Amino acid sequence: MAASAKKAFITGISGQDGSYLAELLLDKGYEVYGLIRRESLEDATHRLRRIDHLRDQITLVPGSIDNYPSIFSAIRQVVPDEVYHLAAYSYVSFNFDDELSTLNTNVNGTHYVLSCCRELVPDSRIYFAGSSEMFGKAESSPQNEKTPFRPRSVYGISKVASFDMNRAYREHYDMFTCGGILFNHESPRRGFQFVTRKITHHAARIKLGLQDTITLGNIDATRDWGHSREYVDAMWRMLQQDQPDDYVIATGVSHSVRDLLDVAFGSLGLDFNKYLRIDERFVRPTEPVPLVGNPQKARDVLGWQAQVTFEELIEEMVQNDLDLLQK
Ligand code: GDD
Repeated sequence: MAASAKKAFITGISGQDGSYLAELLLDKGYEVYGLIRRESLEDATHRLRRIDHLRDQITLVPGSIDNYPSIFSAIRQVVPDEVYHLAAYSYVSFNFDDELSTLNTNVNGTHYVLSCCRELVPDSRIYFAGSSEMFGKAESSPQNEKTPFRPRSVYGISKVASFDMNRAYREHYDMFTCGGILFNHESPRRGFQFVTRKITHHAARIKLGLQDTITLGNIDATRDWGHSREYVDAMWRMLQQDQPDDYVIATGVSHSVRDLLDVAFGSLGLDFNKYLRIDERFVRPTEPVPLVGNPQKARDVLGWQAQVTFEELIEEMVQNDLDLLQK
C-alpha cells in the first residue's frame, strides 16, 4: 500500500514566505493546510493574492494566532506531521501602539502553537521563524548561532522570547522544534513597506513617469538580503534532519540601502541621486551594527546555500514591478 502523503500546517500561509513554502511542499507531495483569518477569507482578492494560484490545491482553516481555541481546533482537525509557524507581525516598527500588539501577538501566538502541538501532536516536527533582528546590537559580525542576542526593537524582543520558548519545548518536552534565524529575504511578493519592495516599486514608477521622487531613511544601513524562495527550502530541510536544531539562514554578503538603490535604478538606466529625498521619519532610532549572517552551519548540516545573487534578486523585483504597473 502506498504511504499516505505527509501533512503540513502553515501559519502565515498568505504571506511571502508562506506562499513559497506552500508551493515547495505541494511539489514534494505534501497535503498543505494553512491557518487563515476570517477577515482574509472575506477579502480574498486582496489578502490571499499570493496564494490565489494554489487555492484548489491547499486547504485553508479559519483561525488566528491571537486566538488559542482556533489554533487548537485547527490542529486537531488537521493532525499535521510538520508545522511551520510563520505568522507574526513582521514589520520592525518603533511606533508605541505597534509595540503592544507586536509583543502580544508574536509571543502568545508562538506559545499557543507550541502548546497546542504538545497537547495534540507531540510527535510533529515544528519550525519557528526567528529573525536576524534578534541579534540587534550584536557584539560581533558576521553573526552565527552562537552570537548572543541583544535585540533593540520590540519586534526583535518578541522574536527572542518566542525563539527561547521554541527551544524550551525542545529541551523540556523533548519535542522536535527547530528555530530558523533568518536574515532579510525578499522577492516580488514582498510587502510594500519593506525597503527592497519600496525601492523597486518606486523605481519602476519613476521610470514610467508616474512620480519623480523617492523618500527613504538611513541609506547607509546595511543588511544581508537573500531570496525568499530559497529560504523556505532551508525551513523544510531543518525538519528533515535526525535531530532538531537552530540555524542561521543568510547569504553571508552584506549590502547597503545605497547599493540597493544603485542596482534597482541602474537596471532601469536611471541615477537614483536625482530622485532621492531623505526624511527623518523613516530613520530608525536604534539601528544596530551591521547585520550579516554566517550560514556555515546550514551549509554543513543542511546542505543549503543561497544561490540567487543580490543583483539578480533586485532586478527580478524591479522587472516584476514594471510588469505590474504596465498591466
Ligand atoms: N522599511 C524601510 N523604509 N526601511 C528603510 C527605509 C525606508 O524608507 N530607509 C532605510 N531603511 C532601512 C532600515 O532602517 C533597515 O536598516 C533596512 O532599510 C531594512 O529595513 P526593512 O526592509 O524594513 O527590513 P528589516 O531589516 O527591518 O526587517 C526585515 O527583515 C528581518 C530579518 O529577516 C523584516 O522582514 C523582519 O520581519 C525580518 O525579521
